[in-house]
Amino acid sequence: MAFETIIVDVEDHVALIKLNRPDALNALNAQLVGELCTALEEADANDKVRCIILTGSDKAFAAGADIKEMSTKSFVEVYGENLFAMVNDRIIAIRKPIIAAVSGYALGGGCELAMLCDFIIASDTAKFGQPEINLGVIAGIGGTQRLTRFVGKSKSMDMNLTGRFMNAEEAERAGLVSRVVPAKKLLEEATSAAQKIAEKSSLTTAAAKEAVNRSYELTLNEGILFERRVFHSMFATEDQKEGMAAFLEKRQAQFRDK
Ligand code: HXC
Repeated sequence: MAFETIIVDVEDHVALIKLNRPDALNALNAQLVGELCTALEEADANDKVRCIILTGSDKAFAAGADIKEMSTKSFVEVYGENLFAMVNDRIIAIRKPIIAAVSGYALGGGCELAMLCDFIIASDTAKFGQPEINLGVIAGIGGTQRLTRFVGKSKSMDMNLTGRFMNAEEAERAGLVSRVVPAKKLLEEATSAAQKIAEKSSLTTAAAKEAVNRSYELTLNEGILFERRVFHSMFATEDQKEGMAAFLEKRQAQFRDK
């Protein structure tokens, strides 16, 4: 499908999706959100793709929901269309790993979009924030929920109540991002991480993603049981036999997703 607000490129088993509304700092309007969800679903269904990278421009990953588009909507409209439910629900349904490669602003819906990915690699120019409070609203796709689970109550309250931005160093310290790299190296680092993931069995990467995500939904004991049962189920795969045999034979494993 041809897209106007994003650019999609598939190479070496990695789908790179680049948000591309430079005049609006990649603000998330209805078109972009729709195209992004479609591209993610296409990548999820594409056998050639084993990992997905979501990125923006040097200046902005995404500066939030499109304020111009939202500003005149009524309660009846936003409640009626369940504004932003779709983006949350369609992205959490993606089974392949998604890495957010964030440079510049990741604000409001942009920060929430990054948090919807499986992990965030940030450039040293990245700035994260939930500044919705300045617009007379609150976060709407996880800024009060996922952010609180990722960085704790105190920092989340600080971000959501003052609207201040966190730089990359603070975001890494707080556990929001997994690594920080110089801006010029951002895509190289994200691609190298994606290629490492692409070398694994896609059965085990999907299982690992599912198990980590369950930790946000289950009690510790239930989560541990879920993890153990998934671990047990891996022994039904050829890739478990291959992975362990390759270790013992001191060679590289050749996974076949079986
Ligand atoms: C629509 C936006 C936008 C946005 C920037 N632009 N952010 N348009 N929605 N969220 C547009 C500007 O209007 C401007 O267009 C162009 O992008 C460049 O932006 P500037 O402000 O001129 O750039 P700069 O001075 O460098 O400031 C960058 C900035 C600032 C700090 C990121 O743009 C900013 O504060 N943006 C809004 C951030 C925000 O509040 N996000 C939360 C949105 S609410 P023109 O045409 O004037 O050149 C939200 C709700 C989520 O996300 C709830 C559910 C999703």
